[in-house]
Amino acid sequence: MNNSINRRTWFKSSLALTGGLAISASWVNQLLASPVSTAEGEFIPSANGHIVRLGSNENPYGPSALARKALQQGMGEFNRYAFEPVSEFKKVLAEKEGVSPEHILVVNGSSETLCLAGMAIGLEGGAVLSAYPTFRSLMDYAEKLHARWDKVDLDEYHKHDLNALASAVKPDTRLMFLCNPNNPTGTVIEGKKYLDFCEEMSRKTVVFSDEAYLEFLEPSEQRSAVALVQKGHNVIVSRTFSKVYGLAGLRLGYAIGQPELIKKLAQYQMGPVINQAGLTAAKVSLTDKEFTKLTRTKNNEALNFFQHYLDQKGWFHGQSRTNCVLFPAPKDGKTILAETLKRGFQIRVWDYQGKEWCRVSIGTLEEMKAFVKAFDEVVA
Ligand SMILES: Cc1ncc(COP(=O)(O)O)c(C=O)c1O
Repeated sequence: MNNSINRRTWFKSSLALTGGLAISASWVNQLLASPVSTAEGEFIPSANGHIVRLGSNENPYGPSALARKALQQGMGEFNRYAFEPVSEFKKVLAEKEGVSPEHILVVNGSSETLCLAGMAIGLEGGAVLSAYPTFRSLMDYAEKLHARWDKVDLDEYHKHDLNALASAVKPDTRLMFLCNPNNPTGTVIEGKKYLDFCEEMSRKTVVFSDEAYLEFLEPSEQRSAVALVQKGHNVIVSRTFSKVYGLAGLRLGYAIGQPELIKKLAQYQMGPVINQAGLTAAKVSLTDKEFTKLTRTKNNEALNFFQHYLDQKGWFHGQSRTNCVLFPAPKDGKTILAETLKRGFQIRVWDYQGKEWCRVSIGTLEEMKAFVKAFDEVVA
């Protein structure tokens, strides 16, 4: 089937919404992961037909043509558990990352790494430290197991405040979570500064570098903390196939760390969680440089368009380099969620510093153009 035609048809139908079909709160919780604001917690969505998903930082261009082909060809193996393919894939990843297979854990989406690390750390008690706002799953798991979450606000440009983070390390800080580029702001701690900071902090505590969005940066700008794992530092790096590779629904990611840290996470992993389809698609996606380049180029075009819109409105936003942007909610969050959904768009509202903020994921340029028209109506 022709994907672009399908998307266009679907997109047109999504704009022809009239209201009617009620969707339960649990549906929205599943779609959104979990509410991050009072507005989301109280909001019962109702929509009719399809919506344009600008709420989960997905890749609207994926899976790549190569991944689709590999999935069709690999179907005959989907009756098997993926024991051997996982071992083989570990070797591929180890070679790519310049480490041994013992440094790698293949996971069911990087959410699993966040869960495993949150569990491993949470069970030890003490604290996890992170900037705020950031992607909170690891800290949520750790808190459920009675660890403390120490938060350090981002700076006025919505970047990580490295000095404040360094000062917030306490004797019982078991892990520092860094999301670079950061979700929900899309902002980046650049190059050497990031690696120097991670190295210094890893002498005091385990550093967790969530690099879900790293590949949105140009290859020459991508500085992974894997370089520190290679040197034997106390660092865990988390990667996913959900973002630039466009395979969110196939659930595949991996962690890279010292073998003893990897073992510590792996002890909580359930049986055979890795799926053949995800592995099949991920393997070819790793080699598909054309697709990742296309995603970057198209995302940048749509991101620039949207950031320009925010600038014209005079609304503050951090300099996002990924596929999401955070800006102050121009109206109350619940109204924004309801009115944007009524017009066929799903976005998110976050609470931060006693205010509400909109986080909009970057869709196609066509979707963003339609979204700003709708948003103008919502905030008029
Ligand atoms: C920073 C960050 N880390 C991890 C994840 C989890 O992604 P997945 O479980 O699909 O790999 C997300 C998802 O949005 C994210 O934004």
